Order: sequence, then C-alpha cells, then structure tokens
Amino acid sequence: MNSKILKSGHIKLYKRENSKFWQMKIKLPKQKAIRSSSGTKILKEAEKIALNHYSLLNKENKIKIKKTLNNIYKKMHLVETADLNKKEIEFILDEAQKFISFNKMKIKKNNLLEGRTIFNLFFEDSTRTRTSFEVAAKRLGADLINVAVKDSSINKGETLLDTMTTINSMNPDVLIIRHPDEGISKKISMNVDACVINAGDGSHEHPTQALLDALTIKNRFKNFNKLLIAICGDILHSRVARSNIIILSKLGAKINVIGPKEWLPKNIKKLPVTVFTDMKKGLKNCDIVMMLRIQKERIVGKIMPNQKTYFNKYGLDYNKLKYAKENAFVMHPGPMNRGFEIDSKLADDVTRSLIQEQVAMGVAIRMACLVILTKNRDNVLKS
Ligand code: NCD
Repeated sequence: MNSKILKSGHIKLYKRENSKFWQMKIKLPKQKAIRSSSGTKILKEAEKIALNHYSLLNKENKIKIKKTLNNIYKKMHLVETADLNKKEIEFILDEAQKFISFNKMKIKKNNLLEGRTIFNLFFEDSTRTRTSFEVAAKRLGADLINVAVKDSSINKGETLLDTMTTINSMNPDVLIIRHPDEGISKKISMNVDACVINAGDGSHEHPTQALLDALTIKNRFKNFNKLLIAICGDILHSRVARSNIIILSKLGAKINVIGPKEWLPKNIKKLPVTVFTDMKKGLKNCDIVMMLRIQKERIVGKIMPNQKTYFNKYGLDYNKLKYAKENAFVMHPGPMNRGFEIDSKLADDVTRSLIQEQVAMGVAIRMACLVILTKNRDNVLKS
C-alpha cells in the first residue's frame, strides 16, 4: 500500500517513489495543505504522528477569539486619544489581550476580517507601524493594500482629498493613515465611508502607539494607579509623547516629562504632567522610563544639539537609570537613535528594556482596533 486516507480525507499518508518514509499531507478547511515527512517507514507510526499533528493543528485552528460581549467603544474611527475615555481604553486593552496568545500560536490566522479591504496609506516613512498594521490585518484574514504614497498620484498634483475620494470609491473598510500634517486623519474621517485609524499625524497624535505602550505596561504592573512614568527627550515634536500622556494619565498613572526647555511644548502645563529639565530630578521614583526619538525631520531650520552633549545630559544609560526605581523598565517607540537618546546596550538589555515587547503588543493592539472598528462600522451601516 502506498497511500492511506484518514479523518475523511483531511489526512493523507503516502510514499514518494524514491523514498521509504511515509509523507503526510494535512488539509484543514480554509487552510493551505501542509506536507511534511512523518520521519518513519512504519505505517502504524506514521498514522500516529499524523493524527497527533492533525489534532494540534485543528486545535489551533479552532481557538476562536472570544466574542466581544459588551462593546464599550462604539466609534468607527480612531483618530485622537482625546476621544477615548478610561472605560474605552480599558476595553481596547482587554480585547487586545486575547490576541497576545493567538499571536504566539504556530498558525496565526483567523477569519475575523475575511473579505475586508484595508489600505495602509503612509505619507511618511515607517517600517514598524506600517508592517505592524499589515501583520495585524493579514492575521485577521483581511486583504491589505500598501499604497506607496510617495510614488502615487499625489506626486502628479492630485490633492490628498482627491486621492482619498478615489480610494473611497473602491469601498475600503479601513484606511490607516500616516501623514506629516496635524489633524489630517480627522479631516479624512469626515469625508470617507471607511473606518479611519490615525497612524501618526505630524507632532499631534499616534493613538495605537500609546495603546500598545499601555498594554505593555499593563502586562508588567497590572495596575496603573501607583505608577510614575517618565517620558523623556523631544517632547515638543513627539506625537507619541502627547498620546501617551493622555492615555496613561486617563488610566491613572502619574507622568513626569523631562527634556530640554526648548523641546517642551508651550502649553505643557495644561497637560496632566509634572515638568522637569533635569534627568536626575525627573527620574526619581519612576517605575518606567519612556525615551523618545529625537525627531530630526521636524527640527528643520533649528539647531540640532550636539550628540555627545545631549547624550550626557538627556541620553538614558545605566547610570541615569539608577536615578529611577531599582527595577525600573525602559521603553522606546522606535526607531532609536542609538547613542543619541539611548545607550545601545541598555536598549538591548531584555532584563530592563521592554522595547521588543512593545513591538509584539503593537500587533495585538492593532488587531483589536481593526476588529472593533469594523464591527462598529457594520453596526452603523445596519442601522
Ligand atoms: C513613532 C512615530 O512614528 O511617531 N514611531 C513609531 O510609530 N514606531 C516614533 C518616532 O518616529 O519617533
């Protein structure tokens, strides 16, 4: 016998002409067939191995993301953290939690957004955020289109709103937008039928980054109420700082911002933060030290500080980290200017740095946001 079918055709054991080993082909519904060698020449053993393999794959395939019982966030767009209250933030974090274990499975694919069309529209460079949304969308079974905006009609004089109207006519479900102008996602959200996610608008906001930072912190500390978090560096140009100040303070954390005077926004006192220009004072008693990238592209026409001088005063290294609590963690949204705002070794030190965890949490948060927003849009269209 050179082949055997098991599990109503979901498993096929067969031998290749030139090999004595049994091969397995396992095909689950809506999944690509997986072929591999069983590693044995004995049929009974091959059957056992294949059945084991099948039940493992089947289990993974069946782990369903629990249904959202009580949808607290009802909006169709996510453009500003100012739009979110504490309950809504906690709801998004809880939804994202479900995807963390899903993202560690061997087969990371479900059909929650099967048949949905999502556009990544990035008018500014990005690797991390763009790919994070792409991975999130694909794991949910959606079709994601990356529009290389720099090469598109925008360069042929088409206005941004024209481009959006054109894309809108293709009936997308979600538009993910990164743009150097503040408030652009909000404007677009008022002119299209799709859900809009702000993936960074100038120095203004970056809601999913702050949500993923909050999730990273939540998984370490559980409770935000007793936390003191330092946000350090180029506060003025940082959308990450702004969104984090809003989200983390709404969750109950206390925030210190630390940076050179010229990089503190004029209205900083209106935000729920305590302001420092000295790292030693600002880091005292902090549980988390969140470093920011120096936004070189937004510091045009102004003098950039000398790298060494800046690092000595504001760059985070093991010595300055000692000013914070004994086991304080380090965060950074990336991309990092190593040796400018953060010491390279410290950034890579997994006992102190949560930077890689932030990236992993990013996918989970974006999956949650995509699911929640599209569901909300379905409800709007139904009513
Ligand atoms: C941030 C951004 O683009 O705002 N990065 C990111 O989203 N991963 C931070 C930055 O560029 O400094």
